[in-house]
Amino acid sequence: MNNFTMYNPTKLHFGKGCCEKLGEKAKKLGNKALLIYGKNSIKKNGIYDLIVEQLEKNNMTYVEYGGIKSNPLNTDADEAVALGRDAKVDCVIAIGGGSVIDTAKMVAICIPTDNKVWDFYQQKAVPEKSVPLIAVLTLAATGSEMNGIAVLQNHETQQKFGYRSKYCFPMHSFLDPTFTFSVPANYTAYGVADLIAHSLEAYFGAGECTLSDRFCFSIISDAIHWSERLFKNLHDYDARAAIMYDATMALNGQIAYGKANTDWGVHALGHNLSLLFDTPHGASLSIMYLAWMKHFKPTIEQKLIKLGKVVFNVETADECINKFEEFFKSINTPTRLSEANIFEKDFDKIIESFVHNRATGYNIKITEKDYAPILKLAR
Ligand code: NZQ
Ligand code: ZN
Repeated sequence: MNNFTMYNPTKLHFGKGCCEKLGEKAKKLGNKALLIYGKNSIKKNGIYDLIVEQLEKNNMTYVEYGGIKSNPLNTDADEAVALGRDAKVDCVIAIGGGSVIDTAKMVAICIPTDNKVWDFYQQKAVPEKSVPLIAVLTLAATGSEMNGIAVLQNHETQQKFGYRSKYCFPMHSFLDPTFTFSVPANYTAYGVADLIAHSLEAYFGAGECTLSDRFCFSIISDAIHWSERLFKNLHDYDARAAIMYDATMALNGQIAYGKANTDWGVHALGHNLSLLFDTPHGASLSIMYLAWMKHFKPTIEQKLIKLGKVVFNVETADECINKFEEFFKSINTPTRLSEANIFEKDFDKIIESFVHNRATGYNIKITEKDYAPILKLAR
């Protein structure tokens, strides 16, 4: 087992009604908040009204920046920073999924500086503090609510990748599963694919830590178990709660302690699909994970056998991959590029982007000669 330091400063408030505590927590941070949110889901499902009521009850004022797109942009973050700086806000409140929370993380870091958000990605600036961040999660997927990662994309530099800092952790995160009832079936499935991919990225990382591996298996098994119920009824509270907790645990550090690294190769591939075609993050992963497992099967065969045995009670690496494929199909997250409207004519452009963004992975190294065969397997 490798040495590790366990660190997670986020206070997670979980369950029905938990957002009723938000106003009181926010008030401790000051009198004025910057609200950041996406397009319109939060105004339809009632969470926006609830948060505003919480702030008003506690005599807080707020400015707001809405319209963050899925697969968020550095330029939106910069505009939100300008608003937050001018209004001299005391805290940032993100209401939404990973795209909104990731944007808010960079906004919170950037407000006390003179920098643009991308300066931090390019290591031209290093954060020394941040405005306190509160996250209200409305979509179970990324784990952003309890980690120090912010993934943004920049169309000028043609990049999409994660920025990591201890200043990215939300101070408080509120997770009420009832506000995920309105997530449509497709994004619910992409969220499940994402949390499974996070578990796999940790599992396929280097180093031995059996407890961390068992956490990975448990999260994958739990997500598969509850998905069956959830996709029959998207308003099933217990199923929504289980998937929400699975997703948080899959990327809050817990399942990677004791390992030398987490692989992230498939995420690196998937990010390029999102950058080029705006493919939803989880959909990019259900496609690329299957192709990656098939391509690297000779290298990871023993790991696949172990994973297949524990999660699906099958004996071979092929059966394990087939079971993942069957599961992804059962929840309707894509398993082939064509389902995401990506075709062979696009491969040269994708490979160029893989090279430009150095899509390599940390443990199972993906080299340039692997790109074309992986894409062919994903056709
Ligand atoms: O914009 P609105 O109207 O809010 O709609 C959103 C969006 O269209 C909708 N949605 C969210 N909550 C909803 C809802 N619709 C109905 N009811 C609700 N309660 O869902 C759509 C997708 O939202 P988004 O935030 O983009 O999804 P997700 O949470 O999957 O986030 C994806 C982003 O996170 C990054 C991805 O790369 C991608 O940019 N990631 C962040 C990570 C992190 N910070 O740790 C790690 C991940 O691996 C990932 O890279
Ligand atoms: Zn992910």
